[in-house]
Amino acid sequence: MSRDLFEAARTAMARCHAPYSKFPVGAAIRDADGRIHAGANIEVISFPEGWCAETTAISHMIMAGGHRIREVAVVAEKLELCPPCGGCRQRLAEFADADTLVHLCDAEGVRQTMRMDELLPFAFETEVIG
Ligand code: THU
Repeated sequence: MSRDLFEAARTAMARCHAPYSKFPVGAAIRDADGRIHAGANIEVISFPEGWCAETTAISHMIMAGGHRIREVAVVAEKLELCPPCGGCRQRLAEFADADTLVHLCDAEGVRQTMRMDELLPFAFETEVIG
């Protein structure tokens, strides 16, 4: 992974709205055209209404006209390595391929890289819907 994706995730993390958990997270997606879309977690006082950094980044990609995820970087200020939550794995998988790389980062850079199908094995997929 080139450094720019990690830097984008780290910059986004600083823009989180996480007054309740005080657990800043940043994510950055490189789309199929090479463009980077970043996001942070955004919390709401009605706790279940908040959402994750990965979800913000996906939203930015879609609104910028992006369609497919080439690679992802995730960084959390207070965790050496922040595996995406279950819901975000499913959301990332919607726009990723089995071999799309997800880079789990610490404050310095990438700590561990996983494929999408390692993060979400046996994913729900069907041709019956849609
Ligand atoms: N969070 C993320 O943004 N991404 C993850 O992959 C895991 C968790 C956020 C959600 C919430 O704002 C905070 O971290 C604590 O759970």
